[in-house]
Amino acid sequence: TSGLPDVRERTLIAIKPDGVQRRLVGQIIQRFEQRGFKLVGLKMLQASQDVLSEHYCNLRTKPFYGSLLRYMTSGPLVVMVWEGHNVVQTSRTMVGNTNPAEAQAGTVRGDFSIHVSRNVVHASDSVEGAKKEIQLWFQTKDLLDWDSWDQTSND
Ligand code: PPS
Repeated sequence: TSGLPDVRERTLIAIKPDGVQRRLVGQIIQRFEQRGFKLVGLKMLQASQDVLSEHYCNLRTKPFYGSLLRYMTSGPLVVMVWEGHNVVQTSRTMVGNTNPAEAQAGTVRGDFSIHVSRNVVHASDSVEGAKKEIQLWFQTKDLLDWDSWDQTSND
């Protein structure tokens, strides 16, 4: 209620196996850096079934659930946490419509993909969802606290 923007909001962005395989990691990171968000966590990994079934727990009854999990385990992911004012909503805009056919040019999906089954990136859809996803994919100690870092580096 201070009237100041909440610059500590965080979101989870994952580059899916097709994005990694197509060497889009650098371009995607660049878009978030250029926009002005801060990277607070980053790792490359092969996702486990356990983490994915938790991540996509709301989709278990969907017809595409099996193929979604096969896709997400078909290669490594680059999973990131980005921080900044309104980062959840702005990231969703930057990533574009879930269905690339409806994603505008200038968005990640609108520029790099043509089908929902290979849509290059994941972005959390709400502040609450982001909190859960960040806890699922990262340990707190692996996320940078920029404030304490700035203080240390000024000593
Ligand atoms: S739904 O049905 O409205 O809940 O689904 P939606 O929010 O549009 O998408 C949820 C995630 O499922 C992925 N998805 C698919 N993956 C593979 N194949 C098909 N057909 C498909 N349809 C939807 C979609 O990309 C969303 O994943 P994330 O990782 O959140 O982007």
